[in-house]
Amino acid sequence: MAILNVSDIGKIYHKGHLEIEVLKNVSLSVEPGEFVSIIGPSGSGKTTLLYVLSGLETYDKGSVMLFSKELSSYTSKEKATLRSMNIGFVFQFYHLIPNLNVYENVKLASVIGKDVSHQKIIDTLEMVGMKDEIKSYPSQLSGGQQQRVAIARALINDPKILFADEPIGNLDYQSGLKIMALFKELNQTYHKTIFMVTHNIDTTSYGSRTLHMLSGRIIKDEKVIQ
Ligand SMILES: Nc1ncnc2c1ncn2[C@@H]1O[C@H](COP(=O)(O)OP(=O)(O)O)[C@@H](O)[C@H]1O
Ligand SMILES: [Mg+2]
Repeated sequence: MAILNVSDIGKIYHKGHLEIEVLKNVSLSVEPGEFVSIIGPSGSGKTTLLYVLSGLETYDKGSVMLFSKELSSYTSKEKATLRSMNIGFVFQFYHLIPNLNVYENVKLASVIGKDVSHQKIIDTLEMVGMKDEIKSYPSQLSGGQQQRVAIARALINDPKILFADEPIGNLDYQSGLKIMALFKELNQTYHKTIFMVTHNIDTTSYGSRTLHMLSGRIIKDEKVIQ
């Protein structure tokens, strides 16, 4: 059964008297275990789509069924639970808390969600290759390492879906490829469903499916041939 089912959604931003239609008739269905990349020019609506599908932004038309429930009918409490436990987020800029070390940054996310053991934090940091840096502070880490910590933080409550908005957009090429390999492992070994915005067509080869966006529409939806 689809984990996410989107039919004919529309989203309008109002700028003064102007109405900007950012998403137009977007439909798609995502099965558990898919790794979906979204690519398209700047301003095509990629971030907005990600935010709408994860409940961070509202939509004006159509329907989004997330975990078999219409998103617009989630109560604010259900939305909070959704965000802290069922979905994880990774952003281009890692948003780690500078005066907390690696361990504490991950632990903080678990406090908001559910009670997580010390071992779980260590295991999650091991999963992303950061177990040896638990006492380091963000400023002592490279961009790629900080992104690994941000990924561990997103994973700490065992979300089913991981949403990522240009997670390697701020990294050098080699560090970016390592992070892509990590996402692929999270998808293949840990069965996370992944929904990732990317600016780089090369990185879509790590996913299983690519959505191409242009002017608020999905203009192409293709399977990646492995
Ligand atoms: N909060 C907002 N208010 C008004 N317009 C917005 C807002 N966020 C995004 N937009 C506009 O929506 C369009 C799509 O933006 P976005 O989803 O960020 O695109 P992308 O991630 O593909 O670059 C752009 O034209 C952008 O200017
Ligand atoms: Mg964007």
